Amino acid sequence: MIYPIVIYGSPVLRKVAVDIDKDYPDLEKFIQDMWDTMYVSDGVGLAAPQVGKSVRLFVIDGTPFGEDEPELEGFKKVFINAKITERVDEEVSMDEGCLSIPLLRENVSRPQKIRIEYYDQDFNFHDEWHEGMAARIIQHEYDHLEGIMFTDRIAPLKKRLIKGKLQSISKGKFRVNYKYRLPK
Ligand code: NI
Repeated sequence: MIYPIVIYGSPVLRKVAVDIDKDYPDLEKFIQDMWDTMYVSDGVGLAAPQVGKSVRLFVIDGTPFGEDEPELEGFKKVFINAKITERVDEEVSMDEGCLSIPLLRENVSRPQKIRIEYYDQDFNFHDEWHEGMAARIIQHEYDHLEGIMFTDRIAPLKKRLIKGKLQSISKGKFRVNYKYRLPK
């Protein structure tokens, strides 16, 4: 099943998502639906709030960046109940986009390296360090679980400049070829 992507301005994107356990209804199917939705929308990551579910789950497949970013070669993971436990001080700035904010790209500064604890789809526990592009994608998706959008993290002046753009995105003034759901 392909979910419509929830668009900027929808309250679910601003909620802090909750942990789930093994008994989450149809977890396996939900994860498959997340993959299908992400691939059909041409994303490299997708967080559950973006399909309207306020739970702590996101999926990442960095394969499209694999050629330029060696740490993303074969990087395909499900993150459940993730918690970032450490962030290095060194930050890097890079262009980001988000399926929930169609066609907008802005520079975001983020820690270059992070440590994250999470469970995979079989509820095996992991505690890992990630860096570079992998760390960036993880932090972007993780932010969705905290109700944070990448546009919250751009420079204040820039933020003011894109305010109008964000409003028109919320009203559906954009064209993409994936299914989406506008705020009510
Ligand atoms: Ni996003």
